[in-house]
Amino acid sequence: MQVLNTKNELINLLGQYRKEGKKIGFVPTMGALHSGHLSLVKESKKNSDLTVVSIFVNPTQFNDPEDLKRYPRTLEKDVELLKTVDCDLVFAPSVEEIYPEPDTRKFDFGYLETVMEGAKRPGHFNGVGQVVSRLFDIVKPDKAFFGMKDFQQVAIIKNMVKQLNFPIEIIPCPIIREESGLALSSRNTLLDEEHKKNAPHIYATLKKARNLASQMNVAELKKWITEEINRNLYLETEYVEIVDDTTLNIVQSWEEKGTKVACVAVYAGKIRLIDNIVF
Ligand code: PAF
Repeated sequence: MQVLNTKNELINLLGQYRKEGKKIGFVPTMGALHSGHLSLVKESKKNSDLTVVSIFVNPTQFNDPEDLKRYPRTLEKDVELLKTVDCDLVFAPSVEEIYPEPDTRKFDFGYLETVMEGAKRPGHFNGVGQVVSRLFDIVKPDKAFFGMKDFQQVAIIKNMVKQLNFPIEIIPCPIIREESGLALSSRNTLLDEEHKKNAPHIYATLKKARNLASQMNVAELKKWITEEINRNLYLETEYVEIVDDTTLNIVQSWEEKGTKVACVAVYAGKIRLIDNIVF
């Protein structure tokens, strides 16, 4: 497994593989890797000839400077983990390598960026669009793999791929959970013991909510989820939404067509966690 830090090295090497007809799979990450990321690498290995993982904590997608500062950075450990799943290439650039000049592009994701994470984290998806489009330009993958925990991000990236005409297939992959039910996230490493112990209450509530959907209307169920999560003194709900899985339209009634997904953002102390469940 090779670790490269500059785009030119990566572009040259990938150019050779592409000439040999190799299909490239890409897993963009911000590092602090866990089994969720490794499941994306495994999926890419199954579906491509060569898998590239990028590790880059993208400053432009953090709307809170404190959040950027405390985001975990564990490059050496990440590289060791990637070896265990036979990753082919790691791209770990510096900020200057990705942004030699500030990126002033403004994406328009329309309605998709007005709800949930888009509403609560202004500028976040613009930053995701900036970095993922830059990484796609460098790696030029055939397929790119994203976890469904960041459910809204997948919708945004599909939209960006359409807008910019990238010939890349976006493959959403299932959420990987701890045995406790807690969705794997790099941010889990920032939880102290008490918050870590209580955070599984989020998914336990979402599972109960799915069973209660036949007994309550949508508004009642959202209220129930909020109260049930907040009943745990270590957790504080930021939002609860039930949305259509493709349009992200807020569901008003169970009668509406389409698959529904309940999405939550919850503070466990200072650490903000997101999760979702398909109904
Ligand atoms: O999901 C993430 O880890 C990041 O948002 C991504 C896609 C790597 C872009 O920085």
